[in-house]
Amino acid sequence: MWYRTELPCLAALALSVIAIPTPSSSNGPHVLDNVTIFIPPASWTDHSTSYARVLLLDKHCETNNALLTTWTQGAPGEPYFPIYQSIDDGRSWGEWSRVYFNETANGGILLQPFLYELPIQIGQFPAGTILATGNAIPGDFSSTNIDIYASTDVGKTWNYVSNVARGAGPNTTNGAHPIWEPFINTYNGQVVVYYSDQRDPLHGQKLAHQTSTDLVNWGPVVNDVALENYTLRPGMTTVAEMGNGKWILTHELGLAPNPTAPYAVHYRIADNPLEFQSAPEYLLRATDGTISSAGPYVVWTPAGGPNGTIVVSDSTYSELFLNTAYGDPNEWVFTPTGKGISYTRALQVLPNESQVMIVDGGLYGGTNTSVTLGNFLVPGPVSSEDTVSACNN
Ligand SMILES: *[C@@H]1O[C@H](CO)[C@@H](O)[C@H](O)[C@H]1NC(C)=O
Ligand SMILES: *[C@@H]1O[C@H](CO)[C@@H](O)[C@H](O)[C@H]1NC(C)=O
Ligand SMILES: *[C@@H]1O[C@H](CO)[C@@H](O)[C@H](O)[C@H]1NC(C)=O
Ligand SMILES: *[C@@H]1O[C@H](CO)[C@@H](O)[C@H](O)[C@H]1NC(C)=O
Ligand SMILES: *[C@@H]1O[C@H](CO)[C@@H](O)[C@H](O)[C@H]1NC(C)=O
Ligand SMILES: *[C@@H]1O[C@H](CO)[C@@H](O)[C@H](O)[C@H]1NC(C)=O
Ligand SMILES: *[C@@H]1O[C@H](CO)[C@@H](O)[C@H](O)[C@H]1NC(C)=O
Repeated sequence: MWYRTELPCLAALALSVIAIPTPSSSNGPHVLDNVTIFIPPASWTDHSTSYARVLLLDKHCETNNALLTTWTQGAPGEPYFPIYQSIDDGRSWGEWSRVYFNETANGGILLQPFLYELPIQIGQFPAGTILATGNAIPGDFSSTNIDIYASTDVGKTWNYVSNVARGAGPNTTNGAHPIWEPFINTYNGQVVVYYSDQRDPLHGQKLAHQTSTDLVNWGPVVNDVALENYTLRPGMTTVAEMGNGKWILTHELGLAPNPTAPYAVHYRIADNPLEFQSAPEYLLRATDGTISSAGPYVVWTPAGGPNGTIVVSDSTYSELFLNTAYGDPNEWVFTPTGKGISYTRALQVLPNESQVMIVDGGLYGGTNTSVTLGNFLVPGPVSSEDTVSACNN
């Protein structure tokens, strides 16, 4: 895993390091559950939250495993993504900062946030820089924009970096040309931004990515999942690297003719996260016949067996789909969690790799929702290298 082996702990960083106390106990036997991160204040007219994202900060041991979360909400006034921080492994949370996008300075909406920590220096941005992205829609609804903001002080202050891609105004009908749902990763010295793209006349919607070596200049649009059937709408990319060096991309498939799973989750496995388009596509169906549906989120953890465990959440089930055979299509196990169902429920593997944090931002279209978390204990043996944190020593 990147936070143990990829880079040494650096005493001096090219970052303004914020002093954060070491948590007293990182992971006891008690598994955290039912923690409230945020409830919209009674004074707001809009009490909805959704689409939560969570980020464990520790690539340079600068924050003792602080966590950041964000989500969509309907705060009064100019839109922003709230950034909440926990310095006690998720037990308690406070507002840490707000990310405003100048695209929405005169109203509009911010959708589909994502947070990412650079594991390596990219252009002028040192390793440990936090990136925030999302879909910024101006007040006149004339465009959809995937913009990047960066923080070099652990998420406290934010600056505009670049526009990765711009589409037409928001409209989920095939034939319209917006873009949606960014997800960020790093590969081979490049930052990769994956997103859903309705701009290609050959595909109602496809999944694509663009790469950059400086976060400012972005390469061409490269297809990840572009299907022959124009009507089908692959959406909501998430990507994870597995212990065998291969990469998994999960996505929903809108308008697939499947009565039990109208947004049936599919996945691809590739040797290289820039070449998913040539990889085979699998339906994500569990051994009990359950087909995952809508807004998937994938992570891989070394815990749970010799092959580790792929963990997939979706927007339909309380359960998770687990796979301990590197994505073998016959090996998905539908597994209870006891947690709530929410739209594109987010996952984060914790420093104790037997635990995966599930962050619930609320149901799609819910009018009175909140942001909560609970940790999931991955069944099976702990990873042979399981370690609470490489930084707490
Ligand atoms: C990781 O968490 C599990 C579940 O709470 C616990 O059994 C295990 O001891 C923890 N591992 C470490 C190294 O603390
Ligand atoms: C969390 O809440 C659920 C639903 O109310 C409840 O069943 C469960 O026992 C709670 N878990 C803990 C650890 O309190
Ligand atoms: C946002 O700010 C940046 C930096 O000042 C500028 O380059 C960009 O054009 C602005 N975008 C909008 C939509 O105002
Ligand atoms: C959405 O796009 C479709 C297809 O181009 C178009 O027919 C429809 O008028 C658009 N809806 C709005 C509200 O613009
Ligand atoms: C394309 O997908 C649509 C929607 O699921 C389906 O109705 C149609 O039959 C498919 N077309 C072909 C040629 O498979
Ligand atoms: C590990 O994955 C391989 C396929 O990559 C599979 O053949 C093997 O059975 C898996 N091991 C376990 C214990 O699931
Ligand atoms: C919204 O949900 C909260 C619990 O999270 C509840 O206390 C409150 O009464 C609800 N408000 C409305 C208007 O339903």
